[in-house]
Amino acid sequence: MDEQFNLEKFYLKLETEWLGRNLLYLDEVDSTNSFLMNRDNKINKHGTVVLAEKQSAGKGRLDRTWYSNEAENLTFSMLFLKKNILSLNPNILNLASSLVIANTIESLYFVKTNVKWPNDVLVEGKKISGILLEASYAGETMNRLVAGIGLNVNQAYFQGNFMMEPTSIRLEVNEEIEREKLLAEILKRYEEMIDKVAFSPDAVLREWSRKCRMIGDKIEVKRGEENLYGIFDEIDSEGYLILRTRESVERISYGDVSAVK
Ligand code: BTN
Repeated sequence: MDEQFNLEKFYLKLETEWLGRNLLYLDEVDSTNSFLMNRDNKINKHGTVVLAEKQSAGKGRLDRTWYSNEAENLTFSMLFLKKNILSLNPNILNLASSLVIANTIESLYFVKTNVKWPNDVLVEGKKISGILLEASYAGETMNRLVAGIGLNVNQAYFQGNFMMEPTSIRLEVNEEIEREKLLAEILKRYEEMIDKVAFSPDAVLREWSRKCRMIGDKIEVKRGEENLYGIFDEIDSEGYLILRTRESVERISYGDVSAVK
């Protein structure tokens, strides 16, 4: 097991106004997302971040499991309760979340990243991070939003079968990464990104599109039982993937995307 996360070091590096000022550090939890979504845990402070060294039931998109070695990576979730964030388009926030992770990795470690719809972060085609947004609603109104991030930081070996080959920052740069500095930087950039999503969502979508290698290419979208083939035309202003098939133009809201040769 790697070094424990040092809270003092983290707070010394943290430059945010509100995000992560309340950090809950857990040795083990089922899922940091589930922990924050569960109102019985009575966490009701906007901007709380829950970081766990181990998740016994880490969740991925589309009911998958997120695997991460204990104390080697970052598995954390952020809680949003304020209207200005709950009223943002969650699709765009989703895309923006991957952009934050991609940009942070590039600027701290000089590793070229790209993004894959809806919110994977890749390095040379290998997955380095995944993001899962969950929300609860009262009627039509969102009242709780949790953004969970799994980022492979220091893991050097990955066992098992993965849909996409995994990698970690350490594997890319060949050195041990300081998780405290990395998390502090992610949270600062995330706070800034929230303002961008609020005030210039189109710029966020343009920036995301520039980092996505598949736009303009032939792709396959697996959506439930259905497999769609077509050209990945663009991301529309609401964050949907626009797929041009032979017969129609589809607006895709979820699914797995892969390149077709
Ligand atoms: C995906 O790529 O499918 C999304 C993975 C999201 C994993 C993170 S780890 C922290 C947070 N807690 C969870 O249970 N899931 C997210």
